[in-house]
Amino acid sequence: MRRILVTSALPYANGHIHLGHLVEYIQTDIWVRFQRLRGAQVVYICADDTHGTAIMIRARQEGRSEEAVIADMQAAHQRDFAGFGVEFDHYGSTHSPANRELCGVFWKSLRQAGLVSERPVSQLFDPKAGTFLADRFVKGTCPKCKSPDQYGDSCDKCGSTYSPTELINPVSTLSGATPELRSADHLFIHTEQLRPFLTEWTQSGDHLHPDVAKWLAAAFLAEPLRDWDVSRPAPYFGFEIPDSPGNYWYVWFDAPIGYIAASREWCEKNGEEFESWWRNPATEVHHFIGKDITYFHTLFWPVMLKASGFNLPKMIHIHGFLTVNGEKMSKTKGTFVRTATYLEHLDPAYLRYYYASKLTPKLDDLDMNLDEFVTKVNSDLVGKVVNLASRTARFVESTGLAAKYPDDGGLFTSAADAGEEIAAAYDACDYNRAMRSIMALADRANKYVEEREPWNLRKDPARATELQEVCTVALNLFRQLAVYLAPVLPSFARQASTLLNQPIARWDEAAKPLLGTKVSRFEHLMKRVEPAQVTAMIEASREEAAKNAPPAPTTAAASPPAPATNVNDGPEALAAEPLAPVVSFEDFSKVDLRVARVVAAEEVPKSKKLLRLTLSLGGEERRNVFAGIKGAYTPDQLLGRLVIMVANLEPRKMTFGLSEGMVVAAGPGGSEIFVLSPDAGAVPGQRIH
Ligand code: 2FM
Ligand code: ZN
Repeated sequence: MRRILVTSALPYANGHIHLGHLVEYIQTDIWVRFQRLRGAQVVYICADDTHGTAIMIRARQEGRSEEAVIADMQAAHQRDFAGFGVEFDHYGSTHSPANRELCGVFWKSLRQAGLVSERPVSQLFDPKAGTFLADRFVKGTCPKCKSPDQYGDSCDKCGSTYSPTELINPVSTLSGATPELRSADHLFIHTEQLRPFLTEWTQSGDHLHPDVAKWLAAAFLAEPLRDWDVSRPAPYFGFEIPDSPGNYWYVWFDAPIGYIAASREWCEKNGEEFESWWRNPATEVHHFIGKDITYFHTLFWPVMLKASGFNLPKMIHIHGFLTVNGEKMSKTKGTFVRTATYLEHLDPAYLRYYYASKLTPKLDDLDMNLDEFVTKVNSDLVGKVVNLASRTARFVESTGLAAKYPDDGGLFTSAADAGEEIAAAYDACDYNRAMRSIMALADRANKYVEEREPWNLRKDPARATELQEVCTVALNLFRQLAVYLAPVLPSFARQASTLLNQPIARWDEAAKPLLGTKVSRFEHLMKRVEPAQVTAMIEASREEAAKNAPPAPTTAAASPPAPATNVNDGPEALAAEPLAPVVSFEDFSKVDLRVARVVAAEEVPKSKKLLRLTLSLGGEERRNVFAGIKGAYTPDQLLGRLVIMVANLEPRKMTFGLSEGMVVAAGPGGSEIFVLSPDAGAVPGQRIH
């Protein structure tokens, strides 16, 4: 029997789970369920990844302890995973006593193997926040192309990578202070010494997809391997290194050890021997990860495991990123969908099936096309699979299935024979191939039902036996599909088990027909997806993003006072547009100016000037406004921000739709438009007097 320990990457404790994360957890959960159906002994382990600067900063901002922050997030993560039927045997945390202890075990081995050394590192330090700054916490002007507002590690505009110390005019994103260069001693692991091992392990063809092996050979193994900096000076949220007080293990050192620590907790809970899972060649360790963290898992992690005598992974399964409608997930477009938001609108089974139908062992990105999502779920699951049962089960509710399997022209046998081929596809993580094979079987089964027309047979009492035979065939073909789909659709498999009064517990149940069993009352198995549900989910995600968006940097509350060089109080602006004639107070009060929040913003494709804004006046009150500010603002810059609107302006019909108000702004136009915002504290709906 195969003994398999499976992990998914440990999600960071500083953010919620979204549809992008779910690609991996659904992929892994399917694989785990499949291996179990095939009879393997499988343990599926995960945990929250809790350490590092990001959590420390978040805790400071929220005025809570790091422990409180990570506990809340862990509860939310576990709720989200459970909602999607992702079932771990154990879900731990990297901030656990077991992990601290195991980090010590690894450290001792690495020291003993002579793989650790110390040397000073110069890093940017934020004197106001009192902390060294990770690359992502520094912004400044790109040293190569001079684009402003770039992160400390790479430039969004020209794609170059650099060290944060090379940034021009660096600023700490934590406090706005100018960082200083400071030196501190760091600890390094040497990987070059293990090059022969790494070359053999990565290039053997057994543990990685060939594309990954090639990439590692070209990008890393062709040159001397760089030492890995695994310590961070205080303050840092993590574990202090026992033989280097004041220094902490870098989050990426203790995170993968978290796989082992969580496994140990599972062993302790279940009376299993830890060593037999992690120091035993008979146990296969399978990691599932996204392509962005390949480097850590295929170079550093094997070195750490090798030096410490733990099992090396049998296989690292690597997937690509999720795009939605061909683009990166976007908060403005509402395609950045949190797990919890999805679950408020749609059945998790839809997404499990849709992802399965797209997943292959390759590293290609997976595109979720929302129209295709609706069509695929409706035509495959509802139209082909559920339909088989819904068109036949009711006719045999009183008789049950026939006692002898009728002649079906070889349909059942050929579907049983396809089982091994489908299993091989699952085992290789080629779920796309598996789903295509399963749907081909569903097509054949539906053709049979259409030809035999049970709904007509039913009208003729003389053909009752034939009706029972046809339904026996259809429901057995249906059950085969339910078995093959069980890793993807566990709750559907349970419903099918209830309908036919026989649990689905093993893969080979697809090889033998059910005969003479009772058929339960037919209950609805799965509803069609309505496009409106998808639209509602996108809309909700958009609004949620707007609500949670940080206040725009131009509001008085958020931005530091403008530097003196920006002061330009000359007479030109007034001269360009002289004052208007005097109006009475009464006339002025006819104009109803209100505070409003931008809850959606998008470009109007064919217009050079217009952005389409959805403004909220609080509660359910929304206004659609076309604002001529595209030259100065991108939709992202406006989303979430408070603005001032003329709320009682007569609606105006424009080429692109109805504009129901106006956003108040200053400036001559073009790129010089300045949208007005109230000071912090104002809320949507308040009138401007
Ligand atoms: O990339 C990430 O989200 C990391 N938190 C994954 C860690 S996986 C493992 F090494 F712990
Ligand atoms: Zn650049």
